[in-house]
Amino acid sequence: MVKVAVLGAAGGIGQPLSLLLKGNTAVTELALYDVAPIVVGVAADLSHINTPAKVTGYKGDDELERALTGAHIVVIPAGIPRKPGMTRDDLFKINAGIVKTLATAAAKYCPKAFLAIISNPVNSTVPIAAEVFKAAGVHDPKRIFGVTTLDITRANTFVGELKKTDPTATSVPVIGGHSGVTIIPILSASGHTFTDAEREALTQRIQYGGDEVVKAKDGAGSATLSMAYAGARFVASLLDASVGKKTGVKECTYVQSTAVEGLEYFSTVVELGPDGASKIHPIPANLDAHEQKLLQAAIPELKANIQKGVDFVKAVS
Ligand code: NAD
Ligand code: LMR
Repeated sequence: MVKVAVLGAAGGIGQPLSLLLKGNTAVTELALYDVAPIVVGVAADLSHINTPAKVTGYKGDDELERALTGAHIVVIPAGIPRKPGMTRDDLFKINAGIVKTLATAAAKYCPKAFLAIISNPVNSTVPIAAEVFKAAGVHDPKRIFGVTTLDITRANTFVGELKKTDPTATSVPVIGGHSGVTIIPILSASGHTFTDAEREALTQRIQYGGDEVVKAKDGAGSATLSMAYAGARFVASLLDASVGKKTGVKECTYVQSTAVEGLEYFSTVVELGPDGASKIHPIPANLDAHEQKLLQAAIPELKANIQKGVDFVKAVS
């Protein structure tokens, strides 16, 4: 039996993500939770799809316990999205509290579940969830993940477009965090060569791909469909490694890490296994000069984002 809970399942990401998860035949139970009552209708709708997962909708605080109990994986896309002119950090004020509440419930009702956190600002919401788990005495850093997969799907798409190669066969690691300068594409590991101008343009587009969508949606939200695709891929990898017992499953994901001195959280390639993160790869040894510069630019912002998350939990507990 494999139960996946989606918290924020009625939202722009939550609905298509739940659809894709309903299509994953490794899932036997899909618990859809939201504060918006329409989540019950979303669950009824998805329940008519002839795949194994039994789908149930849960609305409001009173039903959170039932949504989480027995969950193997908890995916969290709950929270407000950006509007043009906002940074992800501008979402902290509202989303920090939402993630803290949901992590508190997960620590209580499914402390062994893998947590896949999509809610922004990911650089801070992952430390928030970890601090909540620490306070509850159930913290296992191998089980808490910030979902940065969309940065990798974007990098693969943009490089595939430029080099006219199959984007599904393109693989660009993206390390660091998930906002602007903290997003560090490792183009030197893509197997392609780039002119300086190409490298600059690609880096800029990958780092600010989220802003491209926010601008195009013009006040109506941020990336939802590509995020659902990326989130479903990340959950599929967690399932392959845990339930499927597949070896060699790797994803770039933002986790507690020692990859960069002075930063408690960082995304690099992470090997996944039955108990979560089984090996966290270091930063690639052969970064080029451009990538070295990107890394140095990312560190101060990441440090501040992490501290903000940690301080938030300490201040309100
Ligand atoms: P949305 O507003 O469309 O949906 C959010 C959903 O969360 C809504 O249904 C809302 O009712 C629900 N919600 C709010 N508070 C809740 C709570 N306490 N418990 C349960 N549900 C709650 O937003 P969206 O477009 O789906 O984006 C959601 C979040 O994902 C945003 O913070 C956004 O910035 C982030 N995001 C992250 C990535 C990434 O790469 N990690 C990509 C895209 C978006
Ligand atoms: C993204 O990268 O698309 C998300 O983090 C949403 C955003 O605010 O850009």
